[in-house]
Amino acid sequence: MPQLPEVNVLIVDDLPENLLALEALIRQPQLVVHQAGSAEQALALLLDHDFALAILDVQMPGMNGFELAEAMRGTGKTRHIPIVFVSAAGSELNYAFKGYESGAIDFLQKPLDTHAVRSKVNVFVELHRQRKLLKEQVAALQQARREQDALLGKLEVAHSELERAVAMRDDFISLVTQELRTPLNDLYVQTQMRKTHLPSGDSPAFAVSSAREMLDREERQIGAMLGLIDGMLDVSRLRTGELTIHPRPLDLAALVRRAGTSHAARLEAAGCEVTLDAPASVQGVWDEFRIDQIISNLLINAAQHAPGQPVRLSLSSGDGEARLVVRDHGPGIAPRDHERVFRQFERGTPLPPVPGLGLGLYIAQQAARAHGGSVSLDSAPGEGATFTVRLPLAGTP
Ligand SMILES: Nc1ncnc2c1ncn2[C@@H]1O[C@H](COP(=O)(O)OP(=O)(O)OP(=O)(O)O)[C@@H](O)[C@H]1O
Ligand SMILES: [Mg+2]
Repeated sequence: MPQLPEVNVLIVDDLPENLLALEALIRQPQLVVHQAGSAEQALALLLDHDFALAILDVQMPGMNGFELAEAMRGTGKTRHIPIVFVSAAGSELNYAFKGYESGAIDFLQKPLDTHAVRSKVNVFVELHRQRKLLKEQVAALQQARREQDALLGKLEVAHSELERAVAMRDDFISLVTQELRTPLNDLYVQTQMRKTHLPSGDSPAFAVSSAREMLDREERQIGAMLGLIDGMLDVSRLRTGELTIHPRPLDLAALVRRAGTSHAARLEAAGCEVTLDAPASVQGVWDEFRIDQIISNLLINAAQHAPGQPVRLSLSSGDGEARLVVRDHGPGIAPRDHERVFRQFERGTPLPPVPGLGLGLYIAQQAARAHGGSVSLDSAPGEGATFTVRLPLAGTP
C-alpha cells in the first residue's frame, strides 16, 4: 500500500505543558505537529509551511486566538486553513469571523476529550489529504492534456507533410510521364516513318546526310531521357541518404573548361554566349562526377531559363576553398523564391513553359553539401541570376 502523504498541523498555546499534552494526544504516523508558544511564532510558522489544520488556544497573552484567526484570514496563503479553537469551559465562543473563507471553524473545550480531539483532527487531516490528492490529479490531468495537445499538433504537422508528399509524388509522376512522353513519342514517330519507307528503300531518310541528322536527334532524345532517369535515381538515393561521393585529387579549372566545352553547343543553340574566367589550375580533392553535375545543372539552367543572354563562368580559389560563379542575365529569380528553387520538384512557372523536373538545383546543392560546400543564389527579377558554388579544397569536412 502506498504511504500516506505527510501532513502538517499547527498547535498554538502559551503554556508549554498544554502544547505537550495536545501533541501527545494527536500524534500519529505521517502527521507533523508544529508547536507555537505565541500568535507571533504561529504566524512565522504559517508562512513557512502548508498546514492541514491550526488548533488555537483562545486565551493567550498579547494577540489572542481570535485575533490570530483574523490575521490568518487576511493572508491568501493562510485564509483556507481550517481552525479549531480551544477554550476554557463556559467561556464565550460565538465570535463572528466575517469573511473567513474556509468556513471550517470548530471548537473544543478544556478539559480536552481525547476522543473528540482525535476525531476532529482526523477529519481535517483526511480532508486535507483528499484535497491535495485531487489537486495532484487535476495537475496530472492538465499535464496529460497538454501532452495530448502537443502530440495532436505534431500529428497534424505530420499529416499535412504526408499530404504534401503524396501531392508532390502525384505531380512528380505526371511530370515525369509528360517529360518522357515527348522524346519517346518523337522516337516512335521516326521509327514508324522509317518502317513505312523501308520496303521501297528510297526514302530521303536513308540518305547518309539525313541519317546523321536523325541519329543526332535520336541521341539527344535518348540523352534527355537518360538524364531524367539519372535525376530520379539521384533523388531516390538522396532520400535514402545514399548520395555517396568518391573524392579524388582533381584540377577544377580543367573540369570547368571541359564542362564549358561539352555544353557549348547547347548554350550556343540557346543564344547564350559563354565567357570563362579561370586560373590555369585549381587543385583540390573532389568527386569529379558530382562536381561536373553541379556545373552542368547550372549551365543547363542558364540555357533553359536565361536564353539569349550572355553567361559568365568565373573560377577562383582562396581561404581553403574554391569558388565557382555562374552569372547569367536572364529574368532572374524573386527573393521570395530563392530558398524554394533549391527544394526538390520546385520549379518556376515561366511562359512559355520550360521542360524540367525541378531537380537540378536540389541535386547541385546536395552534391555541394556532400563535399562540405554550398550553392548560393543572388538574384532579383530582371537582373539575372548569380549562383556561387563554394567547395572546400580538401573535399569532405
Ligand atoms: N538561371 C536561372 N534563371 C532564372 N530562373 C532559374 C535559373 N535557374 C533556375 N531557375 C528557376 O529555378 C527553378 C528550379 O531549377 P532546377 O534546376 O532545380 O529545376 P528545373 O530547371 O526546372 O528542372 P530540372 O533541372 O530538373 O530539369 C527553375 O524551374 C526556374 O524557375
Ligand atoms: Mg534545372
